[in-house]
Amino acid sequence: MQQPIRFGLVGYKFMGKAHSNALARLPMFFPESPSVSRQAICGRDAAGVRSAAGQLGWQSYETDWRRLVDRDDIDVIDITAPSNAHHEIAIAAARAGKHVFCEKPLALTLDDARGMADAVRKAGVTGQIGFNYRFAPAIQMAHQLIASGRLGTIYHFRGQYLQDFIVDPQFPRVWRLDRSVCGSGALGDIGAHLIDLARYLVGDIREVSGMSRTFIRERPLPSAMTGLSASADETRRGVVDVDDATSFVFGFTGGAMGTIEATRFAQGNKNGMSFEINGSKGSLRFHFERMNELEWYDAADPQTESGFRVIQCTEAAHPYMSAWWPVGHVIGYEHTFVHEMADFVRAVSAGQPASPDFADGVAVSQIMEAVELSIDRRAWVEVASL
Ligand SMILES: NC(=O)c1ccc[n+]([C@@H]2O[C@H](COP(=O)([O-])OP(=O)(O)OC[C@H]3O[C@@H](n4cnc5c(N)ncnc54)[C@H](O)[C@@H]3O)[C@@H](O)[C@H]2O)c1
Repeated sequence: MQQPIRFGLVGYKFMGKAHSNALARLPMFFPESPSVSRQAICGRDAAGVRSAAGQLGWQSYETDWRRLVDRDDIDVIDITAPSNAHHEIAIAAARAGKHVFCEKPLALTLDDARGMADAVRKAGVTGQIGFNYRFAPAIQMAHQLIASGRLGTIYHFRGQYLQDFIVDPQFPRVWRLDRSVCGSGALGDIGAHLIDLARYLVGDIREVSGMSRTFIRERPLPSAMTGLSASADETRRGVVDVDDATSFVFGFTGGAMGTIEATRFAQGNKNGMSFEINGSKGSLRFHFERMNELEWYDAADPQTESGFRVIQCTEAAHPYMSAWWPVGHVIGYEHTFVHEMADFVRAVSAGQPASPDFADGVAVSQIMEAVELSIDRRAWVEVASL
């Protein structure tokens, strides 16, 4: 039997849990996948990481990521720490000959992202980035419909990622609002996913023009935080130096036009990621809160029957669905992480390129940096100029 692929995970909170769950599910639902072992988990707080190791099923723990990277019983470094930690850890891991799975956005800056992609390429290891929304079967189905020409020439991509968790001015200035830790606000935290989907589904982006706002410029500092929730320390305040909301219009290299709106100030929207794509032969609509469904308008339908149909993407024939439940038994957010890990370990085991890889992460960072530059200059920016 082949040796298991031995994982070392950095971070044990929101994404740490999502990745741990994904690795635990693999042998149960994707038994043909290469086997994996949850070798060691890493966090800075000894009590916290010890408890996480037990809860999330890891064999051991470390309190310094350098120790994790140095261990010779680990093949993959999986990075779920905030974005300011990605660059240093990924480069050290690649240089130590480890494969790297890294959460998005790849890095704080385009330069750092490029450095990470170079390090992985030079070391000849596999690098994958955590654009997990690609792995919803409905998104894969959208990709297949577009790639097979069923939508014809694509004219529009119209994407929105709407959340509301920071509308309250008393919500603390967590790391997601601190540029030195996250690089950018709504743009990098949620907009990055839509940029990736626009590229994945429609193609490369040539030029962008954006605007952004920071509605609340100062907030109490956090006393505790978990997932997207946090409590405030009312005695201390901090500056918000990232975008609360960013919108931009853009042109695809292939001629289609696009809009993306990313905001955490859209009251009532919790994880409202949605898009519509319009082509000469039809349209597609997706909303993450109904992630098992893909809406498709086929212009070839008879006039008397025309309209959007709702495809339930739960047939065994839909990508990844044969691994799960009988048809109509829907899957959720966490399954997207299982799917991305199934693909990643297959790529590692076969020595094949992963997808989305670090080059995709660089491409998204390049577009985000172009958007920020266009906002600063109040002008259009060509993505290739960066
Ligand atoms: N793919 C997605 O849908 C998605 C969703 C949320 C977050 N993310 C990304 O995942 C990353 C983490 O976000 P999160 O929400 O899980 O954050 P989080 O705050 O919930 O967890 C971060 C973890 O990293 C640990 N950590 C921080 N610095 C560290 C260091 N130097 N060494 C070791 N451990 C360290 C923390 O202790 C914590 O366990 C970010 O890059 C974020 O953009 C992706």
